[in-house]
Amino acid sequence: MTRRSAPSFGADQRADQALSALRDRLAASRIVSAALEARCLVEAACGYERADLVANGHRPLGESATRLAALAARRLAGEPLARILGAREFWGLPFSLSPATLVPRPETETLVEAALRHCSSTRGKQHPWRILDLGTGSGCIGLSLLVELPHATLVALDRSFETLMTARGNARQHGVAARVSFIAGDWGNAIRASFDLVVANPPYVAVGDIQGLEVEVRDHDPRLALDGGADGLDAYRAIARGLPNLLAADGRAFLEVGRGQDGPVRALLESTELTSFSCHADLAGILRVVSAGPSEASSGGQRRKLKFQQASFEMHPGAP
Ligand SMILES: C[S@@+](CC[C@H](N)C(=O)[O-])C[C@H]1O[C@@H](n2cnc3c(N)ncnc32)[C@H](O)[C@@H]1O
Repeated sequence: MTRRSAPSFGADQRADQALSALRDRLAASRIVSAALEARCLVEAACGYERADLVANGHRPLGESATRLAALAARRLAGEPLARILGAREFWGLPFSLSPATLVPRPETETLVEAALRHCSSTRGKQHPWRILDLGTGSGCIGLSLLVELPHATLVALDRSFETLMTARGNARQHGVAARVSFIAGDWGNAIRASFDLVVANPPYVAVGDIQGLEVEVRDHDPRLALDGGADGLDAYRAIARGLPNLLAADGRAFLEVGRGQDGPVRALLESTELTSFSCHADLAGILRVVSAGPSEASSGGQRRKLKFQQASFEMHPGAP
């Protein structure tokens, strides 16, 4: 994105003229969806719904002019639209964000899709699925699954308390809060239970690559959501260690991976005796999700001792 000075808007300027001017400025700064983003910013500044802008485009901006200039300046300085609006759509649902949550990415819908396909083709969507979402962030993965699976229950876990507060708000907004337990903890270490589905989109950027990320990501997504350690695989190692104890005998894990990480992540999971692998590509054809289940051998002794106790999840002190 090319940086230029922010535009100013006059109180007498019509909203539709401001919209055109802002669209041109965003396009000149190489913002791909300039028209859409300009409209969202004008709507946010004026407090309009989409239809309002069509009907009220001829009205002067009035006091909204100052607000619009401030929002435009933030966008032109590289702040992502979702951060400015404080929300992002995922799986057709609005998710509120906070500075601690990653902005949900469209490619993560590949994971939701793969998990739902598994549910439909095995016990069906009406089954009381027991789901664990590791690194829940805004809750976009786990909560989308709950919306689709009416009898499922979810444990949403994150190391950050603040993300759990945001995820809890999203759970309420989507009417599924009664089916969610929130846990603050370090991957699977905080849990003694087994699940039908374990889903995760862990941080997977190699620490040396973070500086080279786009400014929208590097300067605005939380480091805890990006930093995957020296080779980007630290979180997968920690998660893989815990999975054999977290998956029910016929359970299945779905892990999002970065470009080219499907092979190394599969190898990590194999080393913990998970088996029956499948990979799922996103719309760009990148292998984005690795899925696996326990082998016959690993589904014996140790894991059978761990029974799911739905009522046993408690918030840690200070958690939402
Ligand atoms: C890439 S973000 C994914 C967020 C969300 N699931 C999504 O797909 O948009 C990774 C998440 O893992 C959390 N996280 C990082 N380290 C963790 C750890 N040791 N234990 C649990 N969660 C962790 C981060 O706070 C962040 O919310």
